Order: sequence, then C-alpha cells, then structure tokens
Amino acid sequence: MKVKEEKSTVNIEPLREIEPVIDQLLELYKKSYVGMEEYAYTSDSAIRRYLKWLIRHDPEGFFIARDNTGKIVGFIATDANWINRGRNVGEIHELVVDPEARGKGIASKLIKRALEYFRSKDLKISGLWVGKKNQGAKHLYEKLGYKELYTKGIWTRMEREL
Ligand SMILES: CC(C)(COP(=O)(O)OP(=O)(O)OC[C@H]1O[C@@H](n2cnc3c(N)ncnc32)[C@H](O)[C@@H]1OP(=O)(O)O)[C@@H](O)C(=O)NCCC(=O)NCCS
Repeated sequence: MKVKEEKSTVNIEPLREIEPVIDQLLELYKKSYVGMEEYAYTSDSAIRRYLKWLIRHDPEGFFIARDNTGKIVGFIATDANWINRGRNVGEIHELVVDPEARGKGIASKLIKRALEYFRSKDLKISGLWVGKKNQGAKHLYEKLGYKELYTKGIWTRMEREL
C-alpha cells in the first residue's frame, strides 16, 4: 500500500524585504508556471516588476514558506486593501509552490496564513482570479472554501466569506 506523503514542516513567515531574495522568488515563479505560461509573466524584467508591484501594494501581505534548510519553496502575495466591485476584499494576487515540493500542503498553509491576515484586518470576503483551465489550483481553492463566481476571458473569479 502506498503511504501518503508526509505533510511538510515548512515555516511561513512574512517577507520583510524583497531585494535580498528577489532572484530566488523570480526563479521559483518561473519554474512554477512551466506549462501554464498563458497565465504568467515570462520575461525576467516583467516578473521582477510584478514582484515589486506585489510587495508595494501590501507590504504586510506577502508571506514566504521556507523548508528546514532555509530554502524558499513557496510564496503567497495578498492585498488587504483591494477593491473589487466596490467592496474591500482580501485579495490573493499570487500563489506558487516549487514543483519539487508540491502535494505536501504548503499552498494550503500559505492560504491559511493569508486568511488569518485578512481576518486580522477585519475583512469579510476574500477573492482571487485563477486561470480558467487551472484545475489544480481551482481544486485547492475549493477545498479551502472558495467558490467559482464568474469567468472573464481566461480568468475565473473565486471568493469566500471570512
Ligand atoms: C496550485 C499550487 C500552488 C498548489 O501547491 P501545493 O503545495 O502542491 O498544494 P497543497 O499540497 O496545499 O494542496 C492541497 C490540496 O489541493 C489540491 N490540489 C493541489 N494541487 C492540485 C493539482 N495540481 N491537481 C489537483 N488537485 C490539486 C489537492 O486536493 C490537495 O489536497 P490533498 O493534499 O488532500 O490531496 C501549485 O501547484 C503551483 O504552484 N501551481 C502553479 C502556480 C499556480 O497555479 N498558482 C495559482 C495561481 S491563482
């Protein structure tokens, strides 16, 4: 019988400064989206700009997962000040986990940390846009309470109450 892979022992921590780790985050982002480039920035300069935009928009809402060797194996970029359809929502802008570290609950841990963060800001709704054909991520979000609302072009909107 196949033994279920152990859950990870990663630590989730807020990202305090992006510059010292921006190259690591860039490489992690690129390898995470291999095969799904239609949903991602692909040039180094665009990814760098995007990562800086993410931290600038909510410097408290960016969390990284480190394994027990200190390597960054995932991150979530959120925004507690986001407005969608006139409502203030806790937005998940980005979530990636190293392909070699998947299936161990790291993304779930990052999302749970984001949900705690949004609740600490007294938000009532969390939302995100996910690639229409990104079934893996949709499944993950559904497991954590998000529901599909509508699709615009290649993106599907999902939200949950907090
Ligand atoms: C989506 C992603 C973040 C998931 O990371 P992960 O750490 O492997 O996810 P978890 O281990 O926490 O998964 C939790 C649950 O989600 C579901 N899930 C996650 N990835 C899945 C996949 N590819 N296919 C089907 N279900 C999936 C599983 O049901 C899993 O539950 P289980 O452990 O009971 O089987 C990762 O695959 C990734 O980086 N993808 C590329 C970037 C991306 O699509 N980001 C989302 C942007 S909106």
